[in-house]
Amino acid sequence: MAIPGAEGDIATTTGHREPVSALKIVPRHVAIIMDGNGRWAKKRFLPRVEGHRNGAKTVRMVVEESRRIGVRYLTLFAFSTENWRRPEEEVGGLMSLFVQHLESELDVLLKNGIRLRAMGDLSRLPPSVRELLRRNEERTKDMTGMDLILAISYGGRDELVQAVRKLGRDIQSGKLAPEAITEKVVSGSLYLPDVPDPDLLIRTSDETRISNFLLWQLAYSEIVVSPLLWPEFSRDEFYRCLHVFAGRNRRFGLTQEQVSGS
Ligand code: IPE
Ligand code: IPE
Ligand code: MG
Repeated sequence: MAIPGAEGDIATTTGHREPVSALKIVPRHVAIIMDGNGRWAKKRFLPRVEGHRNGAKTVRMVVEESRRIGVRYLTLFAFSTENWRRPEEEVGGLMSLFVQHLESELDVLLKNGIRLRAMGDLSRLPPSVRELLRRNEERTKDMTGMDLILAISYGGRDELVQAVRKLGRDIQSGKLAPEAITEKVVSGSLYLPDVPDPDLLIRTSDETRISNFLLWQLAYSEIVVSPLLWPEFSRDEFYRCLHVFAGRNRRFGLTQEQVSGS
């Protein structure tokens, strides 16, 4: 697929360089577990929050590149339900960074036609973060270039629990029969029912866990792990991950013959 506005070369897995336009297939939905900020800071004898501050630059790069190559949905795991149990100082530092960037990045979103959406238990967030999320969601709601989804105070199990509660209420009120619950109905009860499942999941810092991210939605996503820590995750490395994805053979439980139609 030709990439609008593509320029320059990118590094590939084999180390040689190829034009960006060589990307055969662009995933419609990319989800990223942005991990390794703390280790990045520790290596430099800095407080953990400095790792988070430096990670913000990588967020901007990934958002810009995704938009440029035509990714339609980009979901970033920014803060998990488990992360609330980190030291108060780190949680506070992260909340301040969210406020700072939600304030400063609104213009970038608007200029690039990006719609911001939040998913998670937003009721646990400080009002300052919650209100800025709401404001940015409202201001960008008509943007159609790309959906940037922030998973914040998000847990996959928590999302399923709230979906089960909702379905339970519908059954109790007589709106829904238990037999009418299908996979589609469950999908439709999640936080963002209109968003298709991720095609590609990237996790940085060499960790090979899901860590309670999008448990339902990742059923058939391709997983690519990068050894780089999030603050050092580069444009070249992002494209390397995209190339790995483009080279994967997705079968969705079928045989190879069925998939290739022979
Ligand atoms: C990811 O980096 C960011 C958040 C979880 C908020 P970490 O803070 O988990 O960094 P490591 O894994 O400790 O290096
Ligand atoms: C997952 O990373 C959460 C985010 C990236 C926001 P963690 O660092 O919290 O996950 P574990 O603890 O290594 O599994
Ligand atoms: Mg981590």
